[in-house]
Amino acid sequence: MVDVLLGLQWGDEGKGKIVDFFAPRYDIIARFQGGPNAGHTLYVNGAKIVLHQIPSGIFHEHTTNLIGNGVVLDAVTLKKEYDKVAAFGVDGRKNLYIAERTHLILPTHRALDKASELSKGNEKIGSTLKGIGPAYMDKTGRNGLRVGDLLDKNFTTQYIKLRLKHQRILDSFGFNEDITEWEEEFFEAIEFMRTLKIVNGEYFVNDKIREGKKVLAEGAQGSMLDVDFGTFPFVTSSSTISAGVCTGLGIAPQKIKDVIGVTKAYCTRVGSGPFPTELHDETGERLRKIGNEFGATTGRPRRCGWIDLVALNFACMVNGVTQLVMTKADVLDAFEELSACTSYGIAGKQEKVVPYQMSKLPITPHYVQYKGWQKDITAIKESADLPEEMKTYISFINEYLGVPVTYISNGPERDQIIKA
Ligand code: GDP
Ligand code: IMO
Ligand code: MG
Repeated sequence: MVDVLLGLQWGDEGKGKIVDFFAPRYDIIARFQGGPNAGHTLYVNGAKIVLHQIPSGIFHEHTTNLIGNGVVLDAVTLKKEYDKVAAFGVDGRKNLYIAERTHLILPTHRALDKASELSKGNEKIGSTLKGIGPAYMDKTGRNGLRVGDLLDKNFTTQYIKLRLKHQRILDSFGFNEDITEWEEEFFEAIEFMRTLKIVNGEYFVNDKIREGKKVLAEGAQGSMLDVDFGTFPFVTSSSTISAGVCTGLGIAPQKIKDVIGVTKAYCTRVGSGPFPTELHDETGERLRKIGNEFGATTGRPRRCGWIDLVALNFACMVNGVTQLVMTKADVLDAFEELSACTSYGIAGKQEKVVPYQMSKLPITPHYVQYKGWQKDITAIKESADLPEEMKTYISFINEYLGVPVTYISNGPERDQIIKA
């Protein structure tokens, strides 16, 4: 049996914390897409740790963690992260597995990402510059190198061949930064990766399912950054939605049971692209400050705004969300009034659908206003103790989306979560 946990907005919904919370209920936590563009924040015994490549179940001794074939893997980041979790007493060699079909991010992919973004000028995507786009392009372009290739004695030759191809593209961009240092680090990390558990991911995970083990597929980024259904071209390069679990792990659709969608009680976005409910005023600044909305991977300030139920409804539809987890509810504690966007005003019409091109026509968000609870909820343990105003806000969201909020996160720590 497989459940999926993924973000419903533009990423950073708090997926890492929620996966870490749910992990004891599962035997395997498996990342199915994305790469080190992800930054999943966890608190382990009060200490903060941000994971980019390793699944968020790594701190649970009895949980197996799998990096699935749908991921793009940066060996250097993985090595650094491996050492970081080791400092917490976790032996990654024991419960971390990597699918051999996983594509590798090469130093030249990072260079290509940078060159491509620079060439876009004002139209840049706001990429994390981790080489994600170029690595996925080499996958679909049938050029890329995979983790399984590391075990081949011709790996370096294959690398040099691809590097030459990349160099020609870099030359056409006029990109001439020296990447020798990146390459040295890369080959050191590759050597390290050869000592890890590299497996046939699809048999590994399906054998476990047959044995009755429970799998949680961990999403990265968010549904609005999905390469097909997100705000293209301001998206990432993978299938971030639940369908990505099938191709990203080799799991058949009928094996998937629950799809747990994570949403903030408001909304954020980092990088360029449309964001209808973005606030450019003091309220937006207040959300950023109280919510500490700065990127976990790049440190960039996140753009902030009210919850967008039109976009959330769309995300629930394309993912088949069966339950919602609402995070960062405590960030709204001090607000006198809250707003929830229930429709878009586009060309004089009220719409409840996400348009093909969000940035083509100006969108005026229409809001329903709610009274804030103005109470500190961070120590609450039981839903019965939640303020009435908050219960009203949540039941409105339940009703609008037709999907129940089953958990409310009221702080960054592991135990700050309430069953609704
Ligand atoms: P992810 O990428 O979806 O895992 O999310 P990030 O880790 O990038 O960003 C979420 C941020 O919010 C992190 O700093 C978390 O520690 C923090 N966080 C998660 N849940 C809560 C919550 O309920 N309340 C507050 N105040 N912070 C939270
Ligand atoms: P987690 O898993 C938020 C955004 C980037 C950029 C766009 C493309 O932590 O939620 P890319 O590096 O993929 O070429 O960037 O996607 N982005 C994220 N935003 N959280 C993430 O991951 C993101 N991963 C990518 O800011 O706008
Ligand atoms: Mg993040």
